[in-house]
Amino acid sequence: MIPVTLQLRNFLSYGEDVPPLDFNEFDVACLSGSNGHGKSAILDAMTWALWGEARKAAGEKSPSDGLLRIGTPEMQVELVFDLEGDRYRVIRNYHRKTRRIRLDFHVFDENSHTYKSLSERTIGDTQKKITATLRMEYDTFINSAFILQGRVDEFTKKTPHKRKEILAEILDLSHYERLADLAKDRYKSANARQQGIEEQCKTIEEELQHQPEYAQKLAQVQQRLVEIDADVQTHETRRRTLEQQQADLRGKQAQFQDRTRQKKTLQEEASKLEEKTLRQQKQIAKVQELLAQESQILHAYQRYLDLQQQQERCEQQFRELSTCHKEQNELEKAIQQARTQIEKEQSAWQAKQAQEQQTLQEAQHVLQQAQAIEQGFHELQQARKQDEAWEETRSTVDALEREQRTLEKVVDQQKNQLSVELQSAMRYAAELQSLADKQPVREQEVQDCQAQVLRLESLEQERERNKEIGTECRARQDQLQAEQMRLQEQLQEAEEKLDLLLRSDTPQCPLCASDLAGQKKVDIEAHFRQEIQQIQAKGQELTRTIAEQASHLDRLRSQYAQLERQIKQLQPARERLLQAQNAFQESVNASEQLRARQPQIASLQARIEQNDYARAEHQRLAELQQKLLALAYNVKTHKALKQRLKTLQKFEGEYSRLETVRERQRHSLAALPAIEQELARLQALLDQRDYAPSEHKQLQDVLVRIAAIGYDEREHQRIQQEFRQLQHAPIHKAELEQAGKSLEVLQQGLSELRMEYEHKTASLADMDRQIAALEEELQGFAALEDELQQATTQLIALKRERDELLQARGTYENKHEHCQRLRVEWEQKQAEIQRTRKDCDIYGHLVQVFGKDGIQAYLIENAVPEIEDEANKILGRLTDNRTHITIESVKNLHSGGVKETLDIKISDELGTRSYEMYSGGEAFRVDFAIRIALSKLLAKRAGTKLKTLVIDEGFGTQDAYGLEQLVEAIKTISSDFEKILVITHLEALKNAFPVRIEVEKYPDIGSQYQIVH
Ligand SMILES: Nc1ncnc2c1ncn2[C@@H]1O[C@H](COP(=O)(O)OP(=O)(O)O)[C@@H](O)[C@H]1O
Ligand SMILES: [Mg+2]
Repeated sequence: MIPVTLQLRNFLSYGEDVPPLDFNEFDVACLSGSNGHGKSAILDAMTWALWGEARKAAGEKSPSDGLLRIGTPEMQVELVFDLEGDRYRVIRNYHRKTRRIRLDFHVFDENSHTYKSLSERTIGDTQKKITATLRMEYDTFINSAFILQGRVDEFTKKTPHKRKEILAEILDLSHYERLADLAKDRYKSANARQQGIEEQCKTIEEELQHQPEYAQKLAQVQQRLVEIDADVQTHETRRRTLEQQQADLRGKQAQFQDRTRQKKTLQEEASKLEEKTLRQQKQIAKVQELLAQESQILHAYQRYLDLQQQQERCEQQFRELSTCHKEQNELEKAIQQARTQIEKEQSAWQAKQAQEQQTLQEAQHVLQQAQAIEQGFHELQQARKQDEAWEETRSTVDALEREQRTLEKVVDQQKNQLSVELQSAMRYAAELQSLADKQPVREQEVQDCQAQVLRLESLEQERERNKEIGTECRARQDQLQAEQMRLQEQLQEAEEKLDLLLRSDTPQCPLCASDLAGQKKVDIEAHFRQEIQQIQAKGQELTRTIAEQASHLDRLRSQYAQLERQIKQLQPARERLLQAQNAFQESVNASEQLRARQPQIASLQARIEQNDYARAEHQRLAELQQKLLALAYNVKTHKALKQRLKTLQKFEGEYSRLETVRERQRHSLAALPAIEQELARLQALLDQRDYAPSEHKQLQDVLVRIAAIGYDEREHQRIQQEFRQLQHAPIHKAELEQAGKSLEVLQQGLSELRMEYEHKTASLADMDRQIAALEEELQGFAALEDELQQATTQLIALKRERDELLQARGTYENKHEHCQRLRVEWEQKQAEIQRTRKDCDIYGHLVQVFGKDGIQAYLIENAVPEIEDEANKILGRLTDNRTHITIESVKNLHSGGVKETLDIKISDELGTRSYEMYSGGEAFRVDFAIRIALSKLLAKRAGTKLKTLVIDEGFGTQDAYGLEQLVEAIKTISSDFEKILVITHLEALKNAFPVRIEVEKYPDIGSQYQIVH
């Protein structure tokens, strides 16, 4: 991913109308600016555009709300980037109100020169597409090439397990993970299939074990079927014969039953005739007896007729008497009713009388308090008049007070406003004062810094001087050494000449061939020796000078090193001076402003103290006060009056009751005499029975008629009794008359009956004979029926057994055939088990191969030395080869065996220590080296997906020397990346790179950037 352009709107400190940042203008650049001016925001914008991820507050799920510039409704980031020869564009947009993200992903089409959309239907799917195109998650990105602020140790601080995951993603091992998962799935389904088939085979084998048993059972059933068929035949023949015999006997039996029925009928008829004859004889005897009592029956009948006449007379008298009694009753009732009516009237008048008397009594009670009530009622009316007057005053007072309150509110508001102004002015003044107070201290600081800077400058000059002297010194040293060489050559030459001279036997000069006889040779020899001595002396002199020079140079060097150290220590003084000067200026400005603000504060204080505000309102308030005093409304008095009104209120009702009572008393006194008169009249009526006169008269008449009827109740009862005793006399008389006529007819009938009876007796004897003959023939019938029953039962049992056998034969035949089919199936399944077993083997193996311990571990294993080498190369450069790291991808366990890990060990000249034991600056160098190594690995592997390196701050931990080395290190790796962006606020660093993007934040328009070459 190489960024091409980035455009932000309302993102963090960036506002509207920020021009796009063009990454084409540089390969290596430094992004500089003061703290909080929006440097890191540019990186946040890139990661937010690509993954929707960036810095966020703890506890926030999505960073978008926090990234949106405060006070703006909507933000947008557009990032154009190149990836593997294609150009892409991502536009991400967020709305605060709807909390909705819009995401567009495009690819540039070379032919049409337009962007073509790659967006999917949902944001989630579009995001997946972007991540897939980048082939990287946010986490991996910020663990390698994007070194975010404060997160340089992101990788180092992770657990070994997490580190491995990141490395796996950098190496794109997820591809193998997917293959492993696929193999696992296949293995599982093959295994499940195999188990299923084995299970089926087991079931089949169990069934096949029963096959011989089924065959044996089948043969037994067949054998028994043959036998049973013969038995059934025999039994059926026998049963048919018996059935024939049974039919014959059934005919005879029917005849027998018929004859028996006929005999019974004859017997019944004969006994009926016998009965009839007896009855006839009895009737004849009865008639004869009746005829013997003739005179008694006739006498009784006469007496019966007499009694009947007497009884009718008595009943006539009784009916008349009943009518009279009824009349008497009714009349007596009417008389009683008339009396009751008068008594009712009497009690009504008595009640009226009591009521009036009660009223008079009550009235008496009320009238006793009449005077007090009248007095109270008078007072009530007086108090009401007073209250009306007070009410009027109060409504006026209320209106005035309302106005007063409104005015007071206005006055208060204005006063508050003035107080707020005063407070804020004083707060500001206090802030200014505290700044102004610091002025002397800050001035001192400026002076101190200036002194330090002066010292720094003099040291730097001294260092320059030292350098110049050193250079001169080295030049001189070179000269002296050249001189020494030359002397060496001269000495060598002189010695060779002397040597030649001494070795020569001829009297001739070996060099110039001149004659060297005698003394001349001696002279020459002496001359050479002298020359050698001189050269040697010169040489010694020179060696001493060179030694002196060398020690001088050493002194200069150590001086230089010391100066260098001192300068390094004093280096920050310049920056400090700048800051101190700014601070001092701030204090100076503050005291000026403070002076300017004093009069305003004084004026505000005066106005508040003298109430110099809301003048019209104050005046009107005074007037209102006057008016209220004049009205002299007294709440207490008014309240007391109200209270009194409340107590007097009851007299209102009591007075009206008094009036009513007086009226009632008058009324009762008038009514009472009339009531008493009426009561006396009614009592007289009752005493003299002076009521219902016609009823009294009729009652007298009825009593006279009753006496005249002369009804004797005893006589009537006696007649009734005797008449009842003779009630059968008319029947007896009728029977007697009938008996005389019927005697002859009865005797004739009797002889006819006797003849008929004899005829029946003869028929019966014949029937008996026939029945006896049939009985003899039917004697064997019961035995035959039993035999037939038996034969039928046996036959049914046989047939049932045969049916069962047939069914069993079918079952066993089926089972046998089923077993044969199962055998074939079993063989097929065995072959299938072989096949699935092979599949399981293959897929199981593949799971291992593609898994974490297989090819993935192998790839990590191979990548580790590469990271290690690369990191150590950079670390060597940063620490003068003092520090190096080792990465262990497997660890030997105490329990034996090994554990996959990714441990980072750091060592320096003192030995190996854990990461936490290194200083901030040392740790940063290690982090930096590992991160660069990872980024390079990422750039190389996984299809060269990454070509940008970004380092956001962190250099603050480094001293000046460390910084120089870091810059050097960054420069040397610059050829490995297409773009490098170093973010820093350090002045010392920002000039170390060829291109600088300067970021500055303005209060109104927000952050802005500018590229400086
Ligand atoms: N939602 C926001 N709206 C406006 N400004 C914000 C918002 N969130 C953070 N900031 C400010 O934006 C600035 C971002 O600065 P940053 O890029 O982190 O600074 P630096 O240049 O030090 O890296 C800071 O001043 C921060 O306070
Ligand atoms: Mg920052």
